[in-house]
Amino acid sequence: MTQIVAHRGNSSVAPENTLPAFAAAAFGGAHFIEIDVQVGGDGSAVVIHDAAVDRTTDGAGIVAEMRATDVKHLDAGSWFDPGFAGTALPLFADVVDLLGRFPEVGLLLELKGAWRPEPTQALLAQLASAGVTERVIAQSFEVEMLRTLATLAPELPRALLVQEVTDEALATCAELDAVACNPTSASVIARPDAVDRVHGAGQQIFTWTSNDSAEWAPLVAAGVDGIITDRPDRLAGWLAAQ
Ligand code: G3P
Ligand code: CA
Repeated sequence: MTQIVAHRGNSSVAPENTLPAFAAAAFGGAHFIEIDVQVGGDGSAVVIHDAAVDRTTDGAGIVAEMRATDVKHLDAGSWFDPGFAGTALPLFADVVDLLGRFPEVGLLLELKGAWRPEPTQALLAQLASAGVTERVIAQSFEVEMLRTLATLAPELPRALLVQEVTDEALATCAELDAVACNPTSASVIARPDAVDRVHGAGQQIFTWTSNDSAEWAPLVAAGVDGIITDRPDRLAGWLAAQ
């Protein structure tokens, strides 16, 4: 069964990387919620895609230079739609709380940038104390980040984000003992044998980011394990109709 992975939550109906987007994803049939986490200047884990808050909030500044108290009051909803005015920019702890409300939903946790060991350990401790580690796959474009996670939390499943499945990507995924090797959807549609290559290495493959059936159909035919999409509710309906 193809896993439905909600990219930044259900980011087509609610502002990306916010609790409403995550709840909409869970209620809409997503198997996993994908989130982006950046580390703040005080070591806090901030749920936001960009390195700066400017695009998706009413504030300005670099996340790595801000504290939790700086970001908590920002409006992360108005830019998307006035109906979401006042939506908070979440911290990672808010997402962990939300997972408690949706015990069937997994978390595809993308760590953005390079994290020092201390904030990484703090994030891992939040997962462990909430008892949700087994529902999480941590992913990153940063090989060093995944090496750090492998050292600090070998039990936490890891995935490498890549542009395409190459010999080098496969070798790195193997070295990391990754559970998944996650390339762009376009690369898999162009070379569907990528799926067999990843499966042959004993890993899963989740592709990003596809929002309509013109891409969902060839990805399902190729046998991907999951599709990362901004439209998880639509993908759920489309899959049900097949
Ligand atoms: O999950 C993969 C995808 O989210 C990576 O790209 O830029 O949307 O974080 P980006
Ligand atoms: Ca992401």
